[in-house]
Amino acid sequence: MEKKVAILISGRGSNMESLINLSFKENLKIEFLVVSDNPEAEGLKKAEKLNVKTIVIKNLKKGWKMEREGEEELLKILKDFSPDLILLAGFMRIIPPNVIEKYYLKIVNIHPSLLPSFKGKDAQKQAFDYGVKVSGCTVHFIDMGVDTGPIIDQRCVDISKAKSVEEVSNLILEKEHQLYFEVMKKLLFSKWKVENRNVYFY
Ligand code: GRF
Repeated sequence: MEKKVAILISGRGSNMESLINLSFKENLKIEFLVVSDNPEAEGLKKAEKLNVKTIVIKNLKKGWKMEREGEEELLKILKDFSPDLILLAGFMRIIPPNVIEKYYLKIVNIHPSLLPSFKGKDAQKQAFDYGVKVSGCTVHFIDMGVDTGPIIDQRCVDISKAKSVEEVSNLILEKEHQLYFEVMKKLLFSKWKVENRNVYFY
C-alpha cells in the first residue's frame, strides 16, 4: 500500500532531499508532499527538481509563530493530503497545539544534538561552545514542549576533532540524513508502539 509523507521545510532542505532520494533509490511506495512556510526556501527548488509536489503556506508573517490563518491553512493542507507521517525537516515555526493534538504520534522532528542535551536553537553551536566530544542527532515525536517529545532514535557523532561550528554541523548533518531515512522507513513499514516515553519497534 502506498504511504503518504508530508515534509515541512523552511530553508535548505537537505534532509528532505535525502529522504526523497533514498526512497526513490529503494523504490519505496511513498507519495511525498513538501510544505514550506517560506516561498524563498532553497528546498522548494530541490523538491520541484525531484518532481515532488510543493505547497507554500501563504498567510504567515516572518518569525517563529504560526498565526491563526497560517494554522488553518496548514490544517487544510494536511487534511487534504491525509499523511501517514509529517516530518519536520528544518521547519522554523512552532507547531500550534491544535495541529499537535490532531496529529499526535504522526509529527516527527530531527534535532541536531543528543537530546535532552542542547535543546532549542543552534544546537551544534551549543555543543561546540560547551566543548563536548560526542554529539549527534535525535529523531523524536513532537509534543507540546520544545524538543521534548518521545525519542524514536539517536546517533552519536565524534566531534572531538572539529575546529568550528560549521565542521560540527557538517559531521552531524551526514548522520542526520541516514538516521531520518531509517526512522521514516521503520515508522511507515514496521510495527511500533509508544509506552510512556519509550518507543518500541517489533
Ligand atoms: C538540520 O540540522 C536539522 O537537524 C534541523 O535543521 C536543519 C535543517 O537542515 N532541525 P536542512 O534544511 O534539512 O538542510
